[in-house]
Amino acid sequence: PTGVKNEKVAIVGSGLIGQSWAMLFAGAGYNVSLFDIDPSFVAKAINNIKEQLHELEKSGMLKGALTADEQFGLISGCDNLSTAAKGAKHIQECVPEELELKKKVMSQIDSVADDHTVLSSSTSTLVPSLFTEDLKHRHNALVSHPVNPPYYVPFVEIVPAPWTDKSVVTNTKILLEEIGLKPITMTKEKPGFVLNRIQYAIINECYRLVEEGVVNTEDVDTCMKWGLGMRYAFMGVFETIHLNAEGAKNYCERYAEGMKNVSRDFGPIPSFTGPFVDKMQEEICESIPLDKLAERRQWRDKRLIALAKLKKEMDEA
Ligand code: NAI
Repeated sequence: PTGVKNEKVAIVGSGLIGQSWAMLFAGAGYNVSLFDIDPSFVAKAINNIKEQLHELEKSGMLKGALTADEQFGLISGCDNLSTAAKGAKHIQECVPEELELKKKVMSQIDSVADDHTVLSSSTSTLVPSLFTEDLKHRHNALVSHPVNPPYYVPFVEIVPAPWTDKSVVTNTKILLEEIGLKPITMTKEKPGFVLNRIQYAIINECYRLVEEGVVNTEDVDTCMKWGLGMRYAFMGVFETIHLNAEGAKNYCERYAEGMKNVSRDFGPIPSFTGPFVDKMQEEICESIPLDKLAERRQWRDKRLIALAKLKKEMDEA
């Protein structure tokens, strides 16, 4: 069918994130080879993907121009890494988050990749220089860190190592845009990349406010859901300050003193251990008990789908 590309990508590790990448690439018409150390996981992943693609089609949220069956037809399981990698223009590594494992798997990928293949890791926390330095194709290696669940949250951060070719970074950005994601590129590595650095700044202050007894966990979540999050669902930090005064510079002039005074009042980095953690969890469990997490994740995904739809409609209007 039209929309199918004669190009191939490979996914190494068929868990939660590997399955999402497979669906995103197939949605854009790529042939996808899915490999896992455990062949029974590949079979399970393929079944799961089939189910998800049809559900997405039913709810009108399937990405791309192809039908669910056509997209599913582009994805094949593979029990051999070199077959999976053969002819792939991009290999997305999605194995568990352990440095030694990443090193091992990236070097296995390196040994079967050709000179044009991009070696991309999904790691959430490991900067690429930690596990790509000794690769033969280290100029082709980088991190593309998605956000869970990647099918609904399109942000992805591209993190090059000091030795990554500029053209590899540029081409990866183009590829990720093509499959419907919203990539940003870091100019250099930094622990936590961008998303988690911002997220941890938020978590730190929320945690301190609750630990100090200023407000409770529900109050903090109300502040995010009905305050900051209302804007941040469609506007960034810089656009927010730009609009909240006569431009961003004027915002700084007006609020610099206040921002600095408040910032000086911030406490130290929380320990995230001790009895307070149990108390915090107990409080959250009053509304969301631990045995309801799976149900609540479905609730979350439904809302993310609706929000993605709304954002798309408003941007197209
Ligand atoms: P997962 O545990 O669901 O899947 C990992 C898969 O890798 C398993 O199927 C496992 O059998 C396979 N595997 C293990 N060793 C292997 C090997 N040597 N060769 C090939 N396959 C192997 O993990 P998940 O959640 O999909 O995470 C994968 C990566 O994505 C991690 O680096 C994680 O930090 C990152 N990530 C995860 C996010 C999340 O929210 N789960 C979000 C963004 C990134």
